[in-house]
Amino acid sequence: MTTTILPVPKSAPNFGISFEEQPGHPVQVHIDSDVAQQSLTTAAKHLAAGELVAFPTETVYGLGACAVRAEAAAKIYQAKNRPMDNPLIVHVSDRAMMMRLLPHGYQVSRVCEVLMDAFWPGPLTLLFPVGTTEGQPHVPSTVTCGQPTVGVRMPSHPIARALIALANVPIAAPSANASGRPSPTSAQHVYTDLAQRQVLRYIVDGGNCDVGVESTVVDAVTTPGEVHVLRPGGVSVESIASVLQANHLLRGTPEAGSDAVQLRVYGKTLERSAAAEQAPTTPGMKYRHYSPEARVVLVRFQPHAASLAEVLSSQLASITEEAANAHDATGARRRAGHGRIGVMCAVDSPLFACVARLTSEPLQQWAASSERVSPVVDCGPHQLCVYSLGVQSAPATAAQRLFDGLRTLDTDVPWAGEPSACDLILVEEIPDTGIGLAVMNRLQKAATGVIEVGSV
Ligand code: TXA
Ligand code: MG
Repeated sequence: MTTTILPVPKSAPNFGISFEEQPGHPVQVHIDSDVAQQSLTTAAKHLAAGELVAFPTETVYGLGACAVRAEAAAKIYQAKNRPMDNPLIVHVSDRAMMMRLLPHGYQVSRVCEVLMDAFWPGPLTLLFPVGTTEGQPHVPSTVTCGQPTVGVRMPSHPIARALIALANVPIAAPSANASGRPSPTSAQHVYTDLAQRQVLRYIVDGGNCDVGVESTVVDAVTTPGEVHVLRPGGVSVESIASVLQANHLLRGTPEAGSDAVQLRVYGKTLERSAAAEQAPTTPGMKYRHYSPEARVVLVRFQPHAASLAEVLSSQLASITEEAANAHDATGARRRAGHGRIGVMCAVDSPLFACVARLTSEPLQQWAASSERVSPVVDCGPHQLCVYSLGVQSAPATAAQRLFDGLRTLDTDVPWAGEPSACDLILVEEIPDTGIGLAVMNRLQKAATGVIEVGSV
C-alpha cells in the first residue's frame, strides 16, 4: 500500500474551514478551497469505509479509524505495533456525536459540563462511561480495551474536526507514530514512521501542530468528589483549577459549593502506585515512550555540580562500553559511541551558555537567528549540534518543538563522516508549571535519567 499525502492549503485563516453550530444538531462544515474539499472528502470516505487515515490535530497527528467498528479500530494497533491493552481516545465533531457513545439518558455532571464548555473543542480528553444496547457496548472493547470508560475529545484543529464531521462517525485515534517513537507533529513525521510499513493509504497534511504535546486526560467519573488528571497535556492543570474555581467547583477555595471536587494530579497530588502503572490506563507509564534511538539524558543545572565536559565524557564512555557489550547488531550500530552530541535547550538558558563556551565556533550568532538547528560544531574531540527550544519565558515553544527536536537530533543532523547516527541527546529541564508539566512528563519517559551540570 502506497502512502499518499493529501494537501490542504495553509494560506487561508483556519485552512479556509468554518463551522456552523446549533445545539442538538450535527455541526455543519464549510470548506472554501477545492483542494481542501477534495482532500477532506477523500479522507472522510476512506474513514467511513473502515480504513485508516492520519490527520493533524492541534496536539499531535492522529492515526484515525472508525471508533464504532471493531475491525476498523483493530487496524490501528497493527499499523502502529501498539500493545493491545492500551485504550484509544475517541474523537468527536460535536456533542450529539459524543452522547451516542454514552449510556441512554446519561446525565453529564456539572464538572464535565464546565470543563467541556471551557476547553472543547481543544486538547482535553474526558473519560465517560460506555453505553450498551442489548448487551452490545456503544464503543467496541477493541477501543476501550475492556475499560468501563471511554476517553472522548473534540479536537479544535479545523482539519480534524471537519474530517470527523464529514465521515459522520466518531474516530478513534492514538498519536500516529510507530509505537515507542516520539509523537508526530508534522505529516513528514508520520510518513517517516509509517509509510515504509505499507499500512496507511492517506495522510492529511496540515503543517506543524500548534500545541505539540498530547491532550490532557482527565477522569472526573471514577472517584466521586474527585477529578484526576491522568496525563498532563495541552490544557494546563492551572487552567483546569481556575475554571473549576470560577464555577465554585474547586474544593478548598472560597465560595466552593457543596458539589465542589478535589483536583488531583497523578504523580504529584495523587500518589504514584506500582499497580496503577502496570495498568495501561495510567497514560505512558507501562510502555516505553517517546524515545529516539540515541540515549536521552535530562540535564538539571546546579551551580556546584560536575562540569559539562566531565558529564559528556562519562556519558560517551558509558555509551561506548554499552555498544561493545551489545549483542544485537542494530543496537551496536546505533550506540557505537562516535561522540555525536545533540543538545535541546532554550537559547537563553544556563545549559546553552555552558555549551557555547565548550564549542570551537561561537554559537551566539546562530542563537540570535530564528534557525531551529545549529551548525554542527566541534566540541573537543566530539561533534555537537543544538536544537533550539526558543526562549525560557515561552515554554509553549518548547512544547511545540519537543518531538520534532528529538526526531531531528536523532536522525537528521548532517554530522561529518559516517555513520550519521547521534549518540547522546541532552535536554535541559524546564519548570513543571503550566504547559511545562506536560513537557517534563514526556521528557521523563524519553530519558534514561537526570544528570546535574554545574559549569563548563
Ligand atoms: O492529543 C491526543 O490525545 C492525541 C491526538 C491524536 O488526539 N492522541 C493520543 O492518543 O495521545 P494516545 O493513544 O497516544 O494516548 C491515549 C492514552 C492512552 O495511552 C491511555 O492511557 C489514555 O489515553 N486513555 C484512553 N482511554 C482511556 C480510558 N478509558 N481510561 C483511562 N485512560 C485512557
Ligand atoms: Mg501516543
